[in-house]
Amino acid sequence: MEQKGVTVWFTGMSGAGKTALARPLEEELRRRGLKVERLDGDIVRQSLTRDLGFSKEDRDKNIERVTFVAKLLTRNGVAVLCSFISPYRAVRAQVAQEVGNFVEVYCYASLDTLVARDVKGLYKKALAGEIENFTGISDPYEAPENPDVMVDSGTETIEESLAKVLAKLEELGYVPPRPEAEAAPYTDDEEAEIEARLEALGYL
Ligand code: ADX
Repeated sequence: MEQKGVTVWFTGMSGAGKTALARPLEEELRRRGLKVERLDGDIVRQSLTRDLGFSKEDRDKNIERVTFVAKLLTRNGVAVLCSFISPYRAVRAQVAQEVGNFVEVYCYASLDTLVARDVKGLYKKALAGEIENFTGISDPYEAPENPDVMVDSGTETIEESLAKVLAKLEELGYVPPRPEAEAAPYTDDEEAEIEARLEALGYL
């Protein structure tokens, strides 16, 4: 079966677990033999959109450029995993319309959790007024009203969240069901060798 391209869009506040979820999803999809690309705000903002800041206008431009890339990849059969705060509902709707095959994953964590966690130390600074326009503190975040998947990193393990996303991608036909990893405990190399032997014997 040929792979159907899709953009999996992780939206949510800084530190809510977008990247933490996109990474293992990337690994799992590769394991299942799919072509995958991951586009991540923290990385993309050092290259493709390094000229942009965090005003509404700049955030919109950030997402617009990423959408351009995601669209090209999606139509070429790639699973594109995008992690961006993307705080504006209307802009996310535009992404969905542009790329067509679009799955929205809302990565939620309560503000208390985010502030307590504060991996990058940004919430502390934002609360102290040292960062302007900080999402969730001094800038809006418009939560999705009807996401395809919602995960809560404050109450779920990454494995649980990952299972929810995979189930949705399988349900929508973007990802083939889990290979019989448990049933056939062979490595890829062993699998290939078995196949080659069967083929040589004329069974395949
Ligand atoms: S978006 O709003 O344009 O989608 P994006 O996901 O690319 O944002 O970048 C967010 C990351 O930039 C955050 O995880 C954080 O590390 C950093 N950042 C720096 N300043 C801000 C800010 N004012 N608001 C939100 N994130 C910021």
